[in-house]
Amino acid sequence: MALFSILLTLCLLSIHQVLSDKSDIGLNPGEMVANHGYPSETHEITTDDGYIITLYRIPHGINDDGTAKRPPVLLMHGFSACSGEFVSLGPERGLGYILADAGYDVWLANARGTAHSRKHISIDPDLNPEQFFNFTWHEIAIYDVANSIDYILEVNGDESVYYVGHSQGTTVFLVLASTIPEYNNKIKLANLMAPAAIIKHYPNTFIQGICKYVDRVWDLLQKYRIYEIPLVGTIRDTVTTLCVNYPDEESDPLCAFIHDSMLSRIDEADVPVVVSNCPSGAGLKQYVHYGQLVRDGGFRQWNYGTEKNLEVYGTENPPDYDLSLITTPVAFYYAKNDGLITVEDENTLAAMVPNVAINYMVPDDSFSHGAFAMADDVVELVYNELLDIMSQY
Ligand SMILES: *[C@@H]1O[C@H](CO)[C@@H](O)[C@H](O)[C@H]1NC(C)=O
Repeated sequence: MALFSILLTLCLLSIHQVLSDKSDIGLNPGEMVANHGYPSETHEITTDDGYIITLYRIPHGINDDGTAKRPPVLLMHGFSACSGEFVSLGPERGLGYILADAGYDVWLANARGTAHSRKHISIDPDLNPEQFFNFTWHEIAIYDVANSIDYILEVNGDESVYYVGHSQGTTVFLVLASTIPEYNNKIKLANLMAPAAIIKHYPNTFIQGICKYVDRVWDLLQKYRIYEIPLVGTIRDTVTTLCVNYPDEESDPLCAFIHDSMLSRIDEADVPVVVSNCPSGAGLKQYVHYGQLVRDGGFRQWNYGTEKNLEVYGTENPPDYDLSLITTPVAFYYAKNDGLITVEDENTLAAMVPNVAINYMVPDDSFSHGAFAMADDVVELVYNELLDIMSQY
C-alpha cells in the first residue's frame, strides 16, 4: 500500500511536471500534432486577394473515434508568432490539444507572411516583397480570418465557429467583426487573450519614443526595401536564445524588457520546442500599423498621412474601427504584467465592446503577454476558465 501511494505520488508529480517534447523540435505544427498521435490535417486555402494560407486541423481528440459532430473552433496566433504557439507545449498544456480533447474540431490558422503562409497565387515574396508584404493586420482580418471562417464552416457543416485569439489574433477579430459585421453571426463566442487594440499607454518608453517617428521609420524601411521581419532560422534562434537567457539588465535593457514582459513565465525547458516555430515571419507594415496606434491612441485603419487619407477615406484621419457594431459575445483575458497592453488600455477596450461575456484578469501578478501561450501553468490560470466560458455558449 505504501509502495502504491509512493508510485501514485511520483506519477502525479510527473504529470504536473510535463515538459514539452524534444522530439517536436524542427517539426511544423501539423507534424507536431501527428507526432503525439493526434489526428492531423493540413489545409491550404486561397484568400480572395490571392494569398495561400495554411490551416492545420485537429479534427477530434486522441481518445475519440471521430464519428460525432463537433463544434469548430478557430485559433489565431499573435504577431510574429504562428499556430505553433498553440501546440508547442504538448498535449497536456497546448490549447490546440486541450480543445480537441474537450470535444472541439480545432483549426489552427497561420496569417499571411508567417513561415506557413508565405505564398501567393501570382506574387513572389522574394522577388516582389513590396507587393507581397503590402498588408497589415487589417488585411489579415478581412481576408485570412474571414476566408478561414467560411472554409471551416463549409467543411464542418456548422453555422458558426468559436474563436480564440492571442494578441494580434485579437486585433484581427475586432477588425473583422467591426468592418464586416455579417461575421458576427458566424462567430458564437470570441475569446481574446492579451487583447491588442488600444495601445495608448504602451509601457516601454523607448519604443514609445520610436513610435512618434513611425512614419519616418516606415519611409526609411521602404527606401531600403525592407518589408519583412524574417524571424526564421538563424536570426530567430539567436534573438530568442539571447532574450530568454539575456545577459543582464544593464547591458541589454531591450532584451530585459522582452524577457520580463513576454517570456517571464516560460519554463526554460520548453524554450527549444517553442522557438522551433515561434517567432515566425511577419510583414513590417503590421508593426508600423501598431506603431501608429501607439502614437495616435485610437483603434483605427492605416494612416497614409493627411493628403492620402483624404483621397482614400475622405477624411484627414483614418476612420476608427466601430467596435459598437460587434454583437458577438466577447470574453477578454488580460494580465497585470503584460508588457505591451496596460490594464488601463485593456479596460478601455473592454468598455467599448457591447457584448462582454467576461473580462477576466489572470490571478497572477507576473503573468505576461507571451505567457498566454507559453506559461508553464497557463492551464490552471487561463485555459480552464476559457473552457468553462466556451461550454456556456
Ligand atoms: C499597397 O496597397 C495600397 C492599397 O492598400 C496601394 O495604394 C499601393 O499602391 C500598394 N503598394 C504596392 C507597392 O503594391
